[in-house]
Amino acid sequence: MNLFKHARMPLIVAPMFLVSSPELVIASAHAGLVGGLPAPNARSVEMLDTWMANIHHALAPERLPWVFNMFVHSTYDRFDQELALVKRYQPSVVSTALGSPTRVIDAVNHYGGWVFADVITIEMAKKSVAAGVDGLILVTQGAGGHTGSLHPLAFLAEVREFWDGPLGIAGCVSRGDDVAAMLMAGVDFVVSGTRFIAATESLASPEYVSMMASATSADIVESKAVSGVSANWMTASLTAAGIDPHGIRPPGAINLSDNRADKAWKNLWSAGQGVGVVKGPQSCADIAGDMALEFAGALKKGLTMHDQWS
Ligand SMILES: Cc1cc2nc3c(=O)[nH]c(=O)nc-3n(C[C@H](O)[C@H](O)[C@H](O)COP(=O)(O)O)c2cc1C
Repeated sequence: MNLFKHARMPLIVAPMFLVSSPELVIASAHAGLVGGLPAPNARSVEMLDTWMANIHHALAPERLPWVFNMFVHSTYDRFDQELALVKRYQPSVVSTALGSPTRVIDAVNHYGGWVFADVITIEMAKKSVAAGVDGLILVTQGAGGHTGSLHPLAFLAEVREFWDGPLGIAGCVSRGDDVAAMLMAGVDFVVSGTRFIAATESLASPEYVSMMASATSADIVESKAVSGVSANWMTASLTAAGIDPHGIRPPGAINLSDNRADKAWKNLWSAGQGVGVVKGPQSCADIAGDMALEFAGALKKGLTMHDQWS
């Protein structure tokens, strides 16, 4: 796939609710990665229009790709307006979360873009393939945000039995070594979120990044207490807000057009189990530089292993 033609490694900087900014998308592309923006981060459709125009004007001259992430859930009331913006600014990839990708495929394929579906089960992967997506992103255990629960190796081996198209994986891919390991295991690209929350271009507050810098995987809890859907959180941020991590919000309560969702996430900080890699704020270019060194080191180790074992 040529999505990563200009990239230093096949890595999408994950679209992250209340974290990803247009600046992070642009910085990711300039650092040799591919950045993602979730639509709901812009508080209004007018603001989203401005953000998408800025990204388009920054990246189009060098034809640098980017990813736009849309909620396709039936309760999301900005869907039609966001689809109109997709048609205007033509992001290279539209990734879909929390629903069926069917609603966007024709429009995106029409201008030559691709639709990737985030999936957390084999059943969802099969449904997305049947719907005609161009790529799958397997969200696996330990991922930041809404998480999957399958082990990455088991998940990707099963999906490869029925899907040989573009395949990405998300969940604790935080170091360049992890990128190399996942490529060896059989995916085409990775999606990395948690490490980039600490990027200086992100919208995360200094307190959020500081809590991450002292956290390890033991400080992360998987909980349905916030949105009714399983997500990984920094336990201390839930308890500070008086939320019992083991409580369950009724799934019927999810309404993505309800801006209480924003308020809920604002001081409740999500991170994946790979949080231990974050030691403090860093520019996106520095994170990309460090990961590229780690990636090159891992590839070199692969050559040594080849000599030893082949
Ligand atoms: C704070 C945060 C917010 C997220 N918001 C979204 C989102 O709005 N849409 C989406 O598709 N994925 C979202 N994700 C999931 C990421 O796209 C990705 O799957 C995940 O970060 C990968 O795992 P990692 O964090 O362990 O690298 C979010 C993740 C985090 C950490």
